[in-house]
Amino acid sequence: RTNTRLDPAVSHSFVYRGTFVHSTQQTALQILKDALLGVDAQGKVLISFICHKAVFFGLLHSSEFFMPGLVDTHIHASQYSYAGTALDMPLLQWLNAYTFPVESCFKDLEFARKVYTQIVRRTLRNGTTTACYFATIHTEASLLLGQIANDFGQRALVGKVCMDRNDCVKHYKETLQDSQDETCRFIKELLEKKYPLVKPVVTPRFAPSCTGALLEQLGEIAKNNNLHIQSHISETHEEVKLVKELFPESESYTDVYRKHNLLTDKTVMAHGCHLSDEELALFRETGASLSHCPNSNFSLCSGVLNVRNVLKHKVKLGLGTDVAGGYSASMLDAVRRALDASKVLTIQDPKYKTLSFEEVFRIATLGGSQALSLDDQTGNFEVGKDFDALRINVAAEGGPIDLIQDEEPKVGLNWLK
Ligand code: GUN
Ligand code: FE
Repeated sequence: RTNTRLDPAVSHSFVYRGTFVHSTQQTALQILKDALLGVDAQGKVLISFICHKAVFFGLLHSSEFFMPGLVDTHIHASQYSYAGTALDMPLLQWLNAYTFPVESCFKDLEFARKVYTQIVRRTLRNGTTTACYFATIHTEASLLLGQIANDFGQRALVGKVCMDRNDCVKHYKETLQDSQDETCRFIKELLEKKYPLVKPVVTPRFAPSCTGALLEQLGEIAKNNNLHIQSHISETHEEVKLVKELFPESESYTDVYRKHNLLTDKTVMAHGCHLSDEELALFRETGASLSHCPNSNFSLCSGVLNVRNVLKHKVKLGLGTDVAGGYSASMLDAVRRALDASKVLTIQDPKYKTLSFEEVFRIATLGGSQALSLDDQTGNFEVGKDFDALRINVAAEGGPIDLIQDEEPKVGLNWLK
């Protein structure tokens, strides 16, 4: 993000000349060479540039290009504290053994401040200009995450986690009443801050951690306040089986959320590896989206999402790191893992059409903004959107890329460290 957005005191516009790379609905990867792009004083993209005050010209070097900031549609900010460790168990055991004990530590605000500052800094350094965060059940620490994202200028949806069912780690759950009250307080207090880029998201952890009564209440809260919703769905076979046992009256895992008004066009569900075609049709009908988290799916041996099938059903799709189920906070890693996941499906069935790099680039940027229903504000360089941009220099001193001879910069898997 350029300083036109970060510094409210700067009231001039900017025109950039150089290479721009982004995705549109029609073209997975559009490369605009020697293009001009005007950004107004509010940081919005203008095509026909009108000069209000001073105009500054930014000329890009031939080794540079602009691309849209990456959109991480699913990341647990609190779990950054143990990212890269503890990946030796399947999901349900992993939650009990590592995740819940660690998340319970976020009652301590100083610990929360340290970890949340680190994750916001790290994701920004990795090019994530928009993140959809899970915090923990603690309201104060969740508000602090919102404040930190605002202070660093990151666009963020922040969720205070809700869970009133947890038999394994006794001190890490809420009562139905507390979960409801604290969610309302969290939403109210975060909205009162009037952060321009940070919004609350209603966050039932996942169906197995919530009673039907809590899901019902959270659906109601989201509806009454027109809020985003996030949760997990159909990540592992064992989890799907557990949901069948806990919610016998529902036709499917997706039906559990739908029944409780938690599937809307502002809902993003992580994983969905084992959804049926009927369930994908429900996503399409309601406008709910999926977050594909391939690093996590490999690391916890959860499954492999069939992205082609999701796209065939016209379900909105973004990419997520799912730290710490995924060990990397980098969206470039998520891009690479998404390609690996697609190749695994092609190895299993050579007729499966592997995703191209261009398609995954689109999912990581425009797709993510659509999955979070933020595509009116971010995701590509269309006129009127905010200029959430990464300036990439493939010839940066000490950078990760070696240019061979005088070749033109190629947009590929090495565009960022
Ligand atoms: N399902 C419920 N909670 C979690 C979590 O923290 N991480 C992952 N990967 N899946 C979940
Ligand atoms: Fe997750």
